[in-house]
Amino acid sequence: MEAIYLDHAATTPVHDEVIEAMVPVYREVYGNPSSIHQYGRKARQVLDEARRKVAASIGAGEKEIIFTSGGTEADNLAIFGVTEELGEGHVVTTSIEHHAVLHAVAALEKQGFDVTYVAPEPDGAVTAEAVKEALREDTVLVSVMMVNNETGVRQPVEEIGEALKNHPAYFHSDAVQALGIENIDVRETAVDLLAFSGHKINGPKGIGFLFAREGVPLTPMTYGGEQERKRRAGTENVQAVKGLEKAMEMMEENREENVAQYENYKKSFLSVLEEEEVSFEVNGQNTTAAIVNISFHNMDVETMLTNFDLEKVAASSGSACTAGSFEPSHVLSAMFPDDPERMRNSIRFSFGAANNETNVKEAARRVASIYRRLNK
Ligand SMILES: Cc1ncc(COP(=O)(O)O)c(C=O)c1O
Repeated sequence: MEAIYLDHAATTPVHDEVIEAMVPVYREVYGNPSSIHQYGRKARQVLDEARRKVAASIGAGEKEIIFTSGGTEADNLAIFGVTEELGEGHVVTTSIEHHAVLHAVAALEKQGFDVTYVAPEPDGAVTAEAVKEALREDTVLVSVMMVNNETGVRQPVEEIGEALKNHPAYFHSDAVQALGIENIDVRETAVDLLAFSGHKINGPKGIGFLFAREGVPLTPMTYGGEQERKRRAGTENVQAVKGLEKAMEMMEENREENVAQYENYKKSFLSVLEEEEVSFEVNGQNTTAAIVNISFHNMDVETMLTNFDLEKVAASSGSACTAGSFEPSHVLSAMFPDDPERMRNSIRFSFGAANNETNVKEAARRVASIYRRLNK
């Protein structure tokens, strides 16, 4: 039986072209980019070129890109970077953020910051009005993700950006699940800080970047060398940066085609479930192409995931970072506080490069057959 991967929101397979772009850098470009000799200069060139391309692909300037070890570090650098010097103040975020934001903000609370967590509507999105209402005079930071990683629901980042134009708070958005799917142009969105990750777009793991708009003061989280314009000390991961550059390039070339394809996969997946008379409901509205979160009536997430695994269908319950613990998802709990059933019976399926129309439909048939067996 062929294994079918429907967990691209957790991570994606690395494109062959990305690996091919990285190999010569591993072999030949081993200098330290901070060294002034030719070995160092060669590595510096790889970094500079990647920074140019990565910046251009989101409409940013090169100085506005800070390479990090991934989305988590980019989120942390944004959140602690703008609050560190202040020591106190008010922060607005949502109760459906990834833990890279929620746990960072919880640490700020311990330091003395006051935090307001805006709850989503049952459709999975917070409203810009609710975020606006949460603002105070002493609000120093607003952090609202672009696309939720568990439900795929888009958040009203544009509107929030507009609302913040007349407020001094910095606006951070976790764009990890938006990259590769949404059109991101920082010239058109009033955000100050955006966090990205390479491994969600068929790039290597352990690399990402933070966009920090020129003029936004950032206190570094690591102390050491003067890399990344003194905002992130430590020798750069040159090989992974090269892989990220290639993944971004491929993402840009194929984004629209990919999105159309993933939309079709999602439709096919859901129509097979309907044909097979599975009783389900989709959690969230206005979702991105690659993610669908489904509540299966009369089911239990743990039993379902174990059976999916036996039938070689890889999906997950909520965020991969919490998978294995089977605690009710904080995102679904926030969306459906009065519906404990939904928190216990929902699974996320996410589409991407490891899929085609055939294996998506086959996965849906396996899911349906497991559902029927468990529902007897
Ligand atoms: C929305 C979101 N933010 C942040 C992260 C963390 O990114 P990374 O794995 O690169 O640290 C993830 C990954 O699961 C994510 O989905």
